[in-house]
Amino acid sequence: MSPQHKFLLDESKLPKAWYNINADLPIPPQPVLHPGTLQPVTPDFLSVLFPMSLILQEISTERWIEIPEPVREIYKLWRPTPLLRAVRLEKALDTPAHIYYKYEGVSPVGSHKPNTAVPQAFYNKEAGTKALTTETGAGQWGAALAMACSFFDIDLEVYMVKVSYQQKPYRRIIMENFGAEVYASPTDRTHAGQAALATDPNNPGSLGLAISEAVEVAATSGGSKKYSLGSVLGHVLLHQSVVGIEALEQMEMAGEYPDFVIGCAGGGSNFAGFAYPFLHQNLTNGKTSKIIAVEPASCPSLTKGTYTFDYGDQAAMAPVVKMHTLGHTFIPPGIHAGGLRYHGMSPSVSALVNHGDIEARAVPQLATFEAALTFMRSEGIIPAPESAHAIRVAIDEALKCKATGEKKVIAFNLSGHGHFDMMAYEAYHHGQLEDYEYPAEAIAEAMTHLPQVAF
Ligand SMILES: Cc1ncc(COP(=O)(O)O)c(C=O)c1O
Repeated sequence: MSPQHKFLLDESKLPKAWYNINADLPIPPQPVLHPGTLQPVTPDFLSVLFPMSLILQEISTERWIEIPEPVREIYKLWRPTPLLRAVRLEKALDTPAHIYYKYEGVSPVGSHKPNTAVPQAFYNKEAGTKALTTETGAGQWGAALAMACSFFDIDLEVYMVKVSYQQKPYRRIIMENFGAEVYASPTDRTHAGQAALATDPNNPGSLGLAISEAVEVAATSGGSKKYSLGSVLGHVLLHQSVVGIEALEQMEMAGEYPDFVIGCAGGGSNFAGFAYPFLHQNLTNGKTSKIIAVEPASCPSLTKGTYTFDYGDQAAMAPVVKMHTLGHTFIPPGIHAGGLRYHGMSPSVSALVNHGDIEARAVPQLATFEAALTFMRSEGIIPAPESAHAIRVAIDEALKCKATGEKKVIAFNLSGHGHFDMMAYEAYHHGQLEDYEYPAEAIAEAMTHLPQVAF
């Protein structure tokens, strides 16, 4: 009998609460520091950028946080998302492993990002926010927040990393369709952008720099604009936990439990959203899944970065947090997985990697695209280049099972589709993609600019 392919939950199974890893962290959380004084921030400082409800979520240690009903209503447009067993991929690899993937590309904009864009817009609306600013890498986050802002009637300004703005014009147009204004970062609209352009007029941009621009605009708006971040922060990871909460239940429907739980990691939000509910089982329920965060070899914050305090953005305006970092001034090579070009990593993911609860792996660009094609030629879905990093490691583990004959269960998060990443695939087909060397010199230079913190 052919194995079951799809594990679907109906709307009544949509989670009612998010899972907060802060309740179960095996190490105490580190302080968040003010970028000027390098002393712990006060909620007042953060409230220039964020509504108080999100700040309180950031520091909450409640294990379960209720999802507001209006957010659940919007989630129902695409949630619960399917969990699939990659039966055809298993056959193509000739592996005894069972491979499952949670597919977040069914959201209206094609990725996991609306899982936090919608609640962030909701809480901002509740607090009276009329306009938001944000950054975006590949455009998935910007598109998600543009949709959420249009639902809640909030204006939006997006600073899009220039290299992606040029490579991915369709995501810009999606944002504009939802009514957002989109700028190629670095721009001459901010001091941070002007300084970057003065040093290098051809600066390709980076997430760290786009964050500086978006933060600067909100912080100097006299209170008329707030700022929204699509990854890294605790409240973002919290909102993404719907992914893993559903997946846990779907694995139960499948009658299996994953030996491997895998996600790609840029700032850490889709990885954590998928993995933390399984990690909860490891930490509190005796389960032993190996939990793996996958990053690009050319921007290897978790595998090659230092676990230390650093600024969240390039211009040193955002709060300073303890994380794996390559140095906030580091500009990663212009790889096509734009959403994975961030110098740092979410503090909780960093702490858990440092503590040994999560394993980190780095994969090169060409092997990642090869894995994406192997996957799509059996499962039919064109993955986002970011998500393909998770596929690479899932396939690697399945091939190890082929060699040993072991029947492991592998689950990964397919964080988005790649329908607007065709230029990347075309470059791959024409042999124009390269495996960048580990940018050791640039990283060593950037590491000389770390803040001198007394903690
Ligand atoms: C499809 C997709 N996956 C993953 C990421 C990486 O972000 P995060 O690590 O926050 O999930 C992005 C970021 O833009 C993305 O668009």
